[in-house]
Amino acid sequence: MDGPAASGKHTLARQIAKKYKLLHLDSGKLYRYFALQVYQTKGQKVNYTKLKQALKKLTLKKLKDKRLTSEPVTKIASIISKIKKIRQMLKKVQHDLAYNPPNKFKGSILDGRDIGTVIMPDAHVKVYLTASLNVRAARRYKEYKKMGVKTTLNKVKSDIKKRDYEDTHRKISSLKPAKDAVLLDSSFYNTRTAFVEIDEVIRKRIKLLNAT
Ligand code: C5P
Repeated sequence: MDGPAASGKHTLARQIAKKYKLLHLDSGKLYRYFALQVYQTKGQKVNYTKLKQALKKLTLKKLKDKRLTSEPVTKIASIISKIKKIRQMLKKVQHDLAYNPPNKFKGSILDGRDIGTVIMPDAHVKVYLTASLNVRAARRYKEYKKMGVKTTLNKVKSDIKKRDYEDTHRKISSLKPAKDAVLLDSSFYNTRTAFVEIDEVIRKRIKLLNAT
C-alpha cells in the first residue's frame, strides 16, 4: 500500500493485517528510525557505521517509539529518504520481512511510498491510497491535537505539502502508483468505508488467484 503523507495507509494496513493475519510493516517508521539516529548525533550528519549498528538492533517494538513521530525526526526522515545508500540498507530489511514473515503470519502487508514499485513489485495486491491535501492535513492535525502536540492546521498542511513534493520529485524510488495498483481516493470516505473498499479489492484478487 502506497500513498502520500497522512493518507491513512498506516491505519488501513493495520486493519487489513489484523483481518488476514499478516505481518504489518509501516516502512515510513524505518526511515524515521534512521532519522532518529541522525537526530541524536546533533550535528545531523549521517554516520553509516552507527546506522548499521542500529539496524542490527532493530525490532518491530522499537518502531513504536513515540519519538519517531516528532517534528524534527519527521523532517530528517524526509531528507534522508533521498539517499540511495539509506534506501538500499532499508530495502533489505523490508524485503526480508515482506517475503519471509515469522511463521505466525500468513503473509505480509507493507505501507510506504515505493512498496508496489520497488520493494514488492510482485505483490498480490497493490493499493495506492490518496486524499486531498486539505483532508489529509485536517486528519493529521486532529491526531496531533489528540496527542497533545502544539501546532496549527496551516503548519501541518504546509509540512505535508513539502514532504509530498520531496517524495514525488526525488530521483530514486519517487512516490507514484505502481502501474498495476488500484487507486483509491479516500477524501470523502471514513476509515470504515475505505477498509471495505480495500477489502473488496483483496477478496476479488484472492478469488482470481484461487481460480488460476
Ligand atoms: O510514512 P511516513 O510519513 O511515516 O514516512 C516518513 C518519511 O519517510 C516520508 O516523508 C518519506 O520521505 C519517507 N519514506 C520513503 N519511502 C517509504 C516510506 C517512507 O521515502 N517507503
